[in-house]
Amino acid sequence: MSATNTNLLDLLARRVPGHALEQPFYTSPEIYQQDLEHIFYREWLFAIPACQLVKTGSYATLKIGAYNIVIVRGRDGEIRAFHNSCRHRGSIVCKQRQGQAAKLVCPYHQWTYDLDGKLLWANSMGPDFDPTQHGLRPVALRNLSGLIYICLSDNPPDFEDFARAAAPYLAVHDLQDAKVAHTSTIIEKGNWKLVWENNRECYHCSANHPALCRSFPLDPEIAGVSVDGGVSDRLQAHFDACAAAGAPSQFLLSDDGQYRLARMPLQETAVSYTMDGKAAVARQLGRIAKPDAGSLLVFHYPSCWNHFLPDHSLTFRVTPISPTETEVTTTWLVHKDAVEGVDYDLKRLTEVWTATNDEDREVVETNQEGISSPAYVPGPYSPDWESGVIQFVDWYAQWMERSLAPTRMAAE
Ligand code: FES
Ligand SMILES: [Fe+2]
Repeated sequence: MSATNTNLLDLLARRVPGHALEQPFYTSPEIYQQDLEHIFYREWLFAIPACQLVKTGSYATLKIGAYNIVIVRGRDGEIRAFHNSCRHRGSIVCKQRQGQAAKLVCPYHQWTYDLDGKLLWANSMGPDFDPTQHGLRPVALRNLSGLIYICLSDNPPDFEDFARAAAPYLAVHDLQDAKVAHTSTIIEKGNWKLVWENNRECYHCSANHPALCRSFPLDPEIAGVSVDGGVSDRLQAHFDACAAAGAPSQFLLSDDGQYRLARMPLQETAVSYTMDGKAAVARQLGRIAKPDAGSLLVFHYPSCWNHFLPDHSLTFRVTPISPTETEVTTTWLVHKDAVEGVDYDLKRLTEVWTATNDEDREVVETNQEGISSPAYVPGPYSPDWESGVIQFVDWYAQWMERSLAPTRMAAE
């Protein structure tokens, strides 16, 4: 067993529940590597909304740790994912973040792959060369109601439990009819767990998010759910009213704590994340007849939190870049027939979350800087306001303990 495993298990064993983690969890290159290997390289990860790949040959690339992946729409309309590494000498095949190509041509020696990964052409490889043995290596992929998830493992864990639970909530949002109105990618100079911790609480919202607080409620009675999943009568009445309007909404936290679904109300007069709380898009994406249904909040550790509103939807993807850097990609989705300048104004659609993301970046970076000081001592989370952070950290710790423990037992 490696020394790192011992250290990480020891650190996890002495963790004080309800408190922030010790410094190495947010700074250590060894623990970062363990996070990649035990979580990001094994779990299902949200990659892109399917509608990002509009045409045949549209592709998107993404890096997850040391991996480079290309996701491409084939001639049959199917979306597939491949390791973006040429089967000749390993070069990256698609260099751009996104593009469109009739075939995937390696820039090094022009080995040429079809959109389904088959090797079509390789120059002067001799009579014994078998192109069928040199297709791009596939990556597991699932299209969940218009959300593309991938898994880097050769033995992907179960996806059905999440898919079965999420599909009814997502169905009414008709993501198959969506288009990308805008994408933003920012780098936050903070460990990926700090990005999540910050996302899972609104203790910081009133002091940091003036734009978001115009529509996002802070009243714990309607914004909060207790750690054990208990909801207030007011919140339950909201879930029931949405369900009666055909929009499944009930709070649902998976047994292992990895994902959560709940359609949460916005501020009383708000129907969308805009500065005036009014709808951002006149041509609605989805079939929710209740304008004040609020926002379906879906998180799925470790890669995404998403918001689905009656008028538009938002996806957020979390990708670790280094022990102290995390990429956050936000995509605003609107109905594919919604016309910019007519049905929506791009600035109005995006300004609240553009500002909020930047404010979150700032607090996460400041948090990371303070944690990096030798004087840092983990402090207690607020039981009232930070139950979501406690839930995230507990999930992380339990996941890592479960994942690392067999290694320890096998080595002993
Ligand atoms: S490495 Fe791709 S063609 Fe040579
Ligand atoms: Fe925030």
